[in-house]
Amino acid sequence: KESRAMKFQRQHMDPDGPSNNSNYCNQMMRRRLMTEGRCKPVNTFVHEPLVDVQAVCLQRNITCKNGQPNCHKSSSSMKITDCRVTSGSKYPNCDYRTSQKERHIIVACEGNPYVPVHFDASV
Ligand code: A3P
Repeated sequence: KESRAMKFQRQHMDPDGPSNNSNYCNQMMRRRLMTEGRCKPVNTFVHEPLVDVQAVCLQRNITCKNGQPNCHKSSSSMKITDCRVTSGSKYPNCDYRTSQKERHIIVACEGNPYVPVHFDASV
């Protein structure tokens, strides 16, 4: 079974990206299996080395959107791409808007080793 840490990497890590094109989210949301059963409404990909994203678990601790205490905010801004499903998108034809940004990321971390398992927000 896929671990929560591996699921985070599948859903949120793309260190070698982004390909600079407006179809990025349409391709990546499908390739990373987030368009199976439904179109995942919003999802962020991070374009930084995995070690740098894992290191965020050692950076500033903050409360997550759901009230859990295990979120961490990156001390540096990171290259990210936000994917948001368009209003006209109809499953199984999932259609996304692609927006590239540089933001501080907030991830939830769990386990031993203490690694990212959820992408909470960017600020
Ligand atoms: P599921 O994978 O069971 O849906 P995301 O896709 O946003 O990165 O989230 C991955 C999983 O982490 C989601 O669960 C989400 O509900 C869960 N999650 C949300 N807040 C969390 C937190 N503070 N700590 C651990 N997991 C959290």
